[in-house]
Amino acid sequence: MSRDRFGLAGALRPPRPNAYRDAWCGTLTAERVGESVRVAGWVHRRRDHGGLVFIDLRDRSGIVQLVFHPDRAPDAHRVAHDLRAEDVLSARGEVLRRDPENVNPSIPTGEIEIAVAEVEQLADAQTPPFPIDEEVPVDELLRLRHRPLDLRRDSMQRALTLRHDVARTIRTHLYERDFLEIETPMLTRSTPEGARDYLVPARLAPGSFYALPQSPQLFKELLMIAGYERYFQIVRCFRDEDPRADRQPEFTQLDLEMAFVGEEDVLELIEGLMSEVFREAGFAVSDPPWLRVPYDEAVLRYGTDRPDLRFELEIRDVSDIVRGSEFKVFESVLARDDGVVRAINVGPLELSRAEQEQLNELVRPQGAKAVAPIYVGDGGWRSNLAKFFSPDQIAAVNSALGARDGDLLLFVADRRSVAARALGELRQRMAERLGLIAEGRHEVCWIVDFPMFEWNEGEGRWDPLHHPFTAPAMADGGPLSFEDPGALRSRAYDMVVDGWELGGGSIRINTPEVQREVLKLVGISEEEADQRFGFLLDALRYGAPPLGAIAFGLDRIVAILAGRDSIRDVIAFPKTSTGADPLTGAPAPVDAAQLRELGLRLLDTPPKR
Ligand code: AMO
Repeated sequence: MSRDRFGLAGALRPPRPNAYRDAWCGTLTAERVGESVRVAGWVHRRRDHGGLVFIDLRDRSGIVQLVFHPDRAPDAHRVAHDLRAEDVLSARGEVLRRDPENVNPSIPTGEIEIAVAEVEQLADAQTPPFPIDEEVPVDELLRLRHRPLDLRRDSMQRALTLRHDVARTIRTHLYERDFLEIETPMLTRSTPEGARDYLVPARLAPGSFYALPQSPQLFKELLMIAGYERYFQIVRCFRDEDPRADRQPEFTQLDLEMAFVGEEDVLELIEGLMSEVFREAGFAVSDPPWLRVPYDEAVLRYGTDRPDLRFELEIRDVSDIVRGSEFKVFESVLARDDGVVRAINVGPLELSRAEQEQLNELVRPQGAKAVAPIYVGDGGWRSNLAKFFSPDQIAAVNSALGARDGDLLLFVADRRSVAARALGELRQRMAERLGLIAEGRHEVCWIVDFPMFEWNEGEGRWDPLHHPFTAPAMADGGPLSFEDPGALRSRAYDMVVDGWELGGGSIRINTPEVQREVLKLVGISEEEADQRFGFLLDALRYGAPPLGAIAFGLDRIVAILAGRDSIRDVIAFPKTSTGADPLTGAPAPVDAAQLRELGLRLLDTPPKR
């Protein structure tokens, strides 16, 4: 699937001959020398050479060179002389072998050219706002505003073709394993996946709203209860959260669900599916089964539940070693219940003053106050902090971090979750800075054994780490008890590749009693549960089999396979970081009549964001 666009031509069937074309540009090779062909497409490039006009003609399959001779085809030559980039034409001529010195080995059609006998210009093109024929950096807003032109560019054609190939591989794999493709509603009630809903006013029920689905979670559970056993869908989901490189307000999930399964069944199915997707895309990962990292271990060693395992730089907790030092900053943090001191050994690196300052900037968004950088040397630490620690403490920290002379150690002292996040960020940035991420290396892992809930300090309640339909389990494997929600683990799993969470799923709750209990814990009263999820609680009473599965972000899968930093580059018509579509101008105000019809009135002063 990573074939470049020009190589992709091999996969195209010959076109049905018509008035415009009887061959794809990119498929014409030396085998066709001597044949008369008709091709159609866009002017990719035009060059004049001593009376001859050369045009690289581009269609979906690739590029072929047309040559216009002033004497042999004067009419065609006249037309060619006036053609400009992106004009549209159809041309007929003979396939000729190029002289050896003119062969272009970088394209499949590089050995031939078409000597044009006849040409018809089908459309005129204005000068595009940016060049289509070469991959120059272009401002993203400009690209999105002129998306149809941007989508003509080779990199976008390759990305969207790859996306198609990935979807096809997934579908074929799942059809062969008896999955049914079933659609679920877009106009529905809110499904709590942790984001804000997009609401759609209901004209026929003034004052009421549909919610666009954050995922098909509840419907897929209902399909299992209904006996469909294996469902999948490649489906649009909507979440009103601030877009980021890996997040869009509307995005696409590969969503699936199975009945009569446990964790192993799901993980094995997905390992088979995803390793086929990776293999087809030429994305080299180890053979499954893939590493399973318990959540607590991931957060401790990598500072995140989506660790990038392409490099080491592991975080170590040195709280017990440094406890009792003279260093007030560490001591006051360690005096707290959840205070820790953690560190990474960056290896031999000297930072400038300014760079040291920047470290603090890096961790502030994670809630940390500062980073303490310490250089190892002179049999101890070259730092004015060294005086606060005993030689034994210094030696023990050095040993825990595998530190050698010249190494840079970065310490963060803070609440456990803050220190983890801050060091996770530092770990990633330092790996990039040191070039530790080898080109072409990829690492997949599963994160397992998630806590069921995390305590939400602000709201004073337990929040589910996944969604509240995930089945709980006791950390010690004993019988389920809701007495200490913090002790509950969930039967959830996430798949992480190179630091990206590609997918997440779980085994589900399949009894109404447990479901009610969990909804209660996340602050949904019995009454509200009946109101919002009565249909699920009801269905759970009529024989719900063990069920579970997963959903993947298709945009993320394709972005990682295509080596793009942003999922915007693998979505035909994405939104910007403010959720806008510069192409259509959405979102846009609507007229008063439309609002009236929906029974809506706008506030005079819109709420501040
Ligand atoms: P979850 O919320 O983890 O699980 O979503 C599954 C996957 O969807 C992708 N994803 C996104 N991609 C782009 N933009 C977004 N805003 C966005 N949000 C999520 C991620 C993520 O791993 N119903 C459950 C799945 C289940 O339990 O079966 C769910 O939606 O790649």
